[in-house]
Amino acid sequence: MLEGDVIRCDSILVFGAKDHIGSELVKHIKKVAPHINLRLATHKMEGLLTLKKMFPEEEVVCADFFDKPSLLAAVQGMEGIFQISPDVFHEDNLVNNMLDVCEAAGTVKHIIRILGTPPGATLDLLPKALKKFRYYPAMQHLVATQRYQDSDLPVTFVNVAGYYMDDFTRMFSPSLYEEKTIRVAFDKRLAWVDHVDVAQVSAELLLSCKPENFRKIIDLTGPDILKFSQVAELFTKTLGVEVSYDGDEQRFFQAIKPVFTALWGEAAPEYFMKYFEWETEHDHMFKVTGFVKEILNREPTSFRAWILRNEDLLMDKWGMLETV
Ligand SMILES: NC(=O)c1ccc[n+]([C@@H]2O[C@H](COP(=O)([O-])OP(=O)(O)OC[C@H]3O[C@@H](n4cnc5c(N)ncnc54)[C@H](OP(=O)(O)O)[C@@H]3O)[C@@H](O)[C@H]2O)c1
Repeated sequence: MLEGDVIRCDSILVFGAKDHIGSELVKHIKKVAPHINLRLATHKMEGLLTLKKMFPEEEVVCADFFDKPSLLAAVQGMEGIFQISPDVFHEDNLVNNMLDVCEAAGTVKHIIRILGTPPGATLDLLPKALKKFRYYPAMQHLVATQRYQDSDLPVTFVNVAGYYMDDFTRMFSPSLYEEKTIRVAFDKRLAWVDHVDVAQVSAELLLSCKPENFRKIIDLTGPDILKFSQVAELFTKTLGVEVSYDGDEQRFFQAIKPVFTALWGEAAPEYFMKYFEWETEHDHMFKVTGFVKEILNREPTSFRAWILRNEDLLMDKWGMLETV
């Protein structure tokens, strides 16, 4: 392969295709490159119908990272792969299986792996209490990065180098919808990222990418660095509706405890409190980057623009939507 060659994938396998980032990536590819052969994956049979309803023209498959026959069948014949892991995931087994099936398939030219770490984070920066949990967010992306980099796979890492803005319509939504309050402890400075920007950057890299990017980490952010309290002020200013900030640690802990325990077990709530605290101590690492503009040739979505995009939803939740 010559320096300056461009890798183009004519067929792309998308994991998590019915969800948050995967679905936006599929929409973008269908819009800008409708000739691409898409194969859309979900890991449970019950997801297939939803996926087929969302994208009736595309091939849909059931494939699990931890079930090699289904994984191999999905990867077979594909050139590009979009790979995202949910929070708390056995990344060693994931990469081992990916390596085996990609070798067996022999067609894969490029993999995009989504990460979620502060830019420049390394294992040395993590305290023992967080290192004990190898497959939890502080460690899992560092583990996956290392394992992929040790393999010969042609992978580029797209790092969500901040928090998703739409955490406020997902995990942080209950207090925002019900009490017009952002109830998140640890008022740290953070970069904010639009999940659509993440999806479109990932799509464009699969459509066309220089091999020099392989094994590199592309840190993606929007244009804003804001603390949670400043996000509350931005909601208030943009929508003209008072949104307050509540950073009380005990109330936050009580709010996340049942949800996180149900998702990941008894140890999860305390782990996440330690993780959020660690992020706060290292919040100087979050910085704005220019990759969205460089790759998409447009400005990244600002937090104000994201709020305006979600104005109707928020006003509806607050019972303030004016209908004509
Ligand atoms: N929240 C934040 O602010 C933030 C910030 C930075 C980074 N992150 C990172 O972003 C990632 C989560 O992003 P998200 O919320 O967009 O993810 P998500 O919607 O939970 O996507 C993960 C996808 O993985 C698929 N999946 C789950 N188990 C699977 C398996 N065994 N085999 C194959 N596919 C499987 C799921 O799709 P199916 O069920 O259809 O298979 C799901 O759509 C995490 O890695 C997190 O650490 C989050």
